[in-house]
Amino acid sequence: MDSLGLFVLLMLLCLQWTVAPAAEEITWTYTGLVGQSEWSEYFPDCGGTSQSPVDVVTTQTKYDPNLIPLTPLGYSQHGNNPFTLYNNGHTAVINLPDWMGLGGLPWLFTAVQMHLHWGSGGPSHGGSEHTISGLSADAELHVVHYNSELYPNMSTAMTQRDGLAVLGILIVTGEETNAAFNNILNYLSRVRFAYQKVSIPAFDIQTLLPKDLTRYYRYNGSLTTPPCYQSVIWTVYNERVQISKAQLRKLETILYSTKAEDPVRMLLQDNYRATQQLNHRVIFASFSAESGKELSSGEVTAIVIGVMCGCVGLAVIIRFIVKTIRFFTLLHRETVVVNSSTSSWDVLPSNRPAPMPRNKEPETAKEKKQDLALSTTTEAEKKEEPSPSLQTEP
Ligand SMILES: *[C@@H]1O[C@H](CO)[C@@H](O)[C@H](O)[C@H]1NC(C)=O
Ligand SMILES: *[C@@H]1O[C@H](CO)[C@@H](O)[C@H](O)[C@H]1NC(C)=O
Repeated sequence: MDSLGLFVLLMLLCLQWTVAPAAEEITWTYTGLVGQSEWSEYFPDCGGTSQSPVDVVTTQTKYDPNLIPLTPLGYSQHGNNPFTLYNNGHTAVINLPDWMGLGGLPWLFTAVQMHLHWGSGGPSHGGSEHTISGLSADAELHVVHYNSELYPNMSTAMTQRDGLAVLGILIVTGEETNAAFNNILNYLSRVRFAYQKVSIPAFDIQTLLPKDLTRYYRYNGSLTTPPCYQSVIWTVYNERVQISKAQLRKLETILYSTKAEDPVRMLLQDNYRATQQLNHRVIFASFSAESGKELSSGEVTAIVIGVMCGCVGLAVIIRFIVKTIRFFTLLHRETVVVNSSTSSWDVLPSNRPAPMPRNKEPETAKEKKQDLALSTTTEAEKKEEPSPSLQTEP
């Protein structure tokens, strides 16, 4: 091969490189050049049929009584080693120690990291990735775990079906400050620019979760960022956690998606993906819609009074029945007393005669005689009555 040939070959290789860079080197964004709608051109999985996030239409979810609450393992045992907070240009990530995990799924899952998605405080009022019956929350926390029973590490698991389990926690704003979230928010100012990293004090991860872990939605989906691998068992909690408006504002306005040295600064905002088609997937709910209704204090009072009235009523009825039975028992016994010469000590205690040596023999004999008499009478009656079959015969 001559030098010209080699040169051409090298040029072609260079051209190949510039035209089709490795997927990992693509700088994707939420809006703009390689925005959401272009993701699938560079990351084919993003155009798949089991993508996340999705809109959870509560009336179309299917109640599955087998969906037991997941168990956060070691979430509160954070130890003394600090966590690492990292601005990756798309979100703020906190790496989690590998002794944290998730129980309650068919395999044990090991915690990897958690991160947030949020909006920009604009009129669109978006921020969360998952929506419930079309409604966005203000932000969303994702706690990411990989299937450590089937796969050796996160990078292998993330490409496999059932490889990841992610908890989705919807965040809304209210009046009160959520102290747990300050364990993250207080340190965002140290990672304002992309690729900045800082150590932060370890804290109890469980305090970020909603109180009610029993009510959640479950479906099979994907990573919500490129490469969008369809490897995630999603658990989206029904209960929203609340942070203050000031806390949300901090989250929305403090970080940049650009590096410190970049001449143009771009705020890291609206880092949530639009909801994706369900494509015949079913979203399961760990709870049924009826039991999900909250009872007002009036309804609770009504139920308590109702139950009490019911109990009293039942007691009265039982008392009546018992009394009736007793009455008829007494009536029967008194009849026996009247008819027979022997007295019943239970019925007529005042008439109780002095104890006498009992002789049961005659009594038994008498009873037997009576029985015999009765049966004889019946037999006699039967004989007197002409048989119907005989009557019809000529
Ligand atoms: C993950 O595990 C695979 C298979 O054992 C290995 O090839 C790969 O290097 C590991 N990746 C990391 C990041 O440890
Ligand atoms: C997720 O997909 C697996 C098959 O890979 C299936 O067994 C499971 O039932 C699906 N789960 C949900 C919640 O749809």
